Formats: sequence, structure tokens, C-alpha cells
Amino acid sequence: MKITESTKPNLDFHTLLRPENDLEYTLLEDPGFLAGLDWGLPRYGHPEGKIYLHMLEVLQNIDRLGLDGDERFYLRGIAFLHDTFKYREKKGAGIGRKAHHGYLARSFAEVKAPELESVYDLIEWHDEAYFAWRKIYLQGKKEEGQQRLQHLQELMGERMDLFYYFFWCDTRTGDKNPAPLVWFEKKMESSVSLIPHREPLISWPVTGQYKSSMG
Ligand SMILES: [Fe+2]
Ligand SMILES: [Fe+2]
Repeated sequence: MKITESTKPNLDFHTLLRPENDLEYTLLEDPGFLAGLDWGLPRYGHPEGKIYLHMLEVLQNIDRLGLDGDERFYLRGIAFLHDTFKYREKKGAGIGRKAHHGYLARSFAEVKAPELESVYDLIEWHDEAYFAWRKIYLQGKKEEGQQRLQHLQELMGERMDLFYYFFWCDTRTGDKNPAPLVWFEKKMESSVSLIPHREPLISWPVTGQYKSSMG
């Protein structure tokens, strides 16, 4: 079934996602936002399929970090928005920045979520560490990958810790390959506060079948 803004999911997202601030309640009233929650079929990286199920996993990871105040508010806001507009991505629209769901999420946030202004860049570029890793390890373009990471660092500035926290929460979901997170932590160990791993992360072999485990 094609998901559009007039598609009304028959699910109680208030019970599922437990909104905890005005912004989250407002988002759960927006038809364009709600349409995106119920989108998605099981795929590599996302055996759960639906966006709201992925979002639930990210929110649980945010809980595990034990943060509060602005950090929790921003991380939850990013979790709510980051993948929700995948349903608006147009196949065949190219691979440019504006075709990516991160850009679509940012555009939505600029209108509907002014409270998240200071993390608009993070919402838009939330998959960029994965893309940098993919350039290097799946496409063999080391220099390009390093440049993407450098650009991400410049863009995030003091928000790099928050970017890392979100990347941690977003990667440890579904059956995503943890290799991009392991690589990112190694690259960033002197510039971000690393989250201690309570269990070992096992990197999968980098082969074609995992190429699409992003998001
Ligand atoms: Fe995600
Ligand atoms: Fe994504």
C-alpha cells in the first residue's frame, strides 16, 4: 500500500512511543508525521520493517544512556524525526543531499519543530558517519570517506558528542552491522566522550549483502 499523508495508521502511538514533552505531542498530531511512522517493510538492517518500531529501539537506547535535560530532549526529538520521512523519498530522484530522508526530515522540522533548531544539521546529516564508513570500506574510496568525516566534524562542531550519542542509539538497532560505529569510535576517541560498551560489538564481514543496512 502506498503511504500518503491521508493514510491514517490504526495504531495508538501515544501508548507505543510515550511522548514526554509538548513537541512530541504536537508531532503525534501531524498527519505528515504520522503517515511516516507506519511505513516500511523488513529489509537488511531493519528486520522490524516499520519506522515506529525502529524508533522504539532508538528510544530504548536513549533511555540506556541515562541522560536528561536538553540532551535527552534533543536525542528524542531527533529519534522521532530522523527516519520518519523515508516514505517521501522519491525513487530515481538521484543520490543528492536533497533526495535523502535526513534532508526531508530537516525541512519538516524547520516548519514544525523550531525547538530543534540547534540540531537541524544533526537531523539532516544523521547518516553521514555511516556514509563516510561506506565510502571507505564498501567503495574503497578512502580519501573521499575521510573528507566526508572531516566535513561532518566541521558541521557538528560542539554538537559532535550529541551526534555520536545519536549514532550509537541508531546503530544498535535491528540487525545493523556495528562496524561503522566501531570505526567511528576509533576515529573519534580523542574528541568525543565514548560510551562504555557493556557487551562486545561483533563486526560482521563487510560484504555486499549488508550494503543497504543503513538508516
Ligand atoms: Fe534510524
Ligand atoms: Fe536514516
